[in-house]
Amino acid sequence: MTHVLDGNAVSDRIRSNLQTAIDHLRDSGVTPGLTTVLMSEDDASRTYVSMKQQACEDIGIDGRTRRLDAEQPAEDLFDLVKELNARADVHGILVQMPVPDHVDKRRVFRSVDPMKDVDGFHPENVGRLVAGNARYKPCTPHGIQKLLESAGVDTAGKEAVVVGRSDIVGKPMANLLIQKAPGGNATTTLCHSQTENLTEKTRQADLVIAAAGYPELIDGSMLSEGTTVIDVGINHVDADNEKGYKLVGDVAYESAKQKADVITPVPGGVGPMTITMLLYNTVKAASLQTETPVDLPWVGLPSVGGARDADKAVFAGGDFGNTLSRMRSGKESFLLWFLAYPV
Ligand code: GUN
Repeated sequence: MTHVLDGNAVSDRIRSNLQTAIDHLRDSGVTPGLTTVLMSEDDASRTYVSMKQQACEDIGIDGRTRRLDAEQPAEDLFDLVKELNARADVHGILVQMPVPDHVDKRRVFRSVDPMKDVDGFHPENVGRLVAGNARYKPCTPHGIQKLLESAGVDTAGKEAVVVGRSDIVGKPMANLLIQKAPGGNATTTLCHSQTENLTEKTRQADLVIAAAGYPELIDGSMLSEGTTVIDVGINHVDADNEKGYKLVGDVAYESAKQKADVITPVPGGVGPMTITMLLYNTVKAASLQTETPVDLPWVGLPSVGGARDADKAVFAGGDFGNTLSRMRSGKESFLLWFLAYPV
């Protein structure tokens, strides 16, 4: 029978572990702060931003939203980011994408202090990810790794096909899958709009990650039996119902489910994980910037693989370099952190 991954359930388990870390930070006088900047009138962007704000409030993060009109000069956005970079109570900054055409998105990525870049889009953080030494993993690909772990899907040695080459999902996803690290070690192909014979590639795959932004691009005929299928798409398509539209993924769910061993639904699959991993990065940002070690058990899914030293060590101070002496969990996990992540 096909295992349908429940993104809400996995997300709840991770959030409950994060709650412990946030409580610990608060006991140490630190309230993690995340500011989201919205420069768009787009309904979907507004909805995402209010969901992020709500998730922060629910878990005890000081979540704030700063809005700019889409017609305002680009410099207003850069001035705001500069102000947020300088504030000690703001540990994470997220500029909601897409930004209007007159704003250079690459300059936006560069403008956020890399220590506060909880999206992981700054070139320094992209470089670290590619080098195998990520500071903040981009939220959606990181959430997908956690979902796969939750289902006991081991990516090592598998053929993975990522469909879509966006900066937000496709490229970082492929980079995570090739790392010599847990959740990686996959032989990875990145397909895009110029790929010839996509079906030939997806039929070879043990794992297909559909992130092209194209409704129902991948159907069952393009998959082999037993594939793991992760659907990142959220597309509005016309429908004969009250709303006049329905949400579909990049995967034709019913036909793909006939072939897949593991599959994510839309909604309720990848979606909830993205915000959860944003909360994770914000907690990590607050811990790093205030040099307040957070002695978390594995924020992932202990029931699947047991506590992971890499996660423990990061929150125990592994990223600080000079904080070995402050680490409550001792040298062992710090050393294991390096062993677990050879570059
Ligand atoms: N727009 C859609 N997804 C994202 C995301 O993960 N981060 C930002 N900043 N904008 C987005």
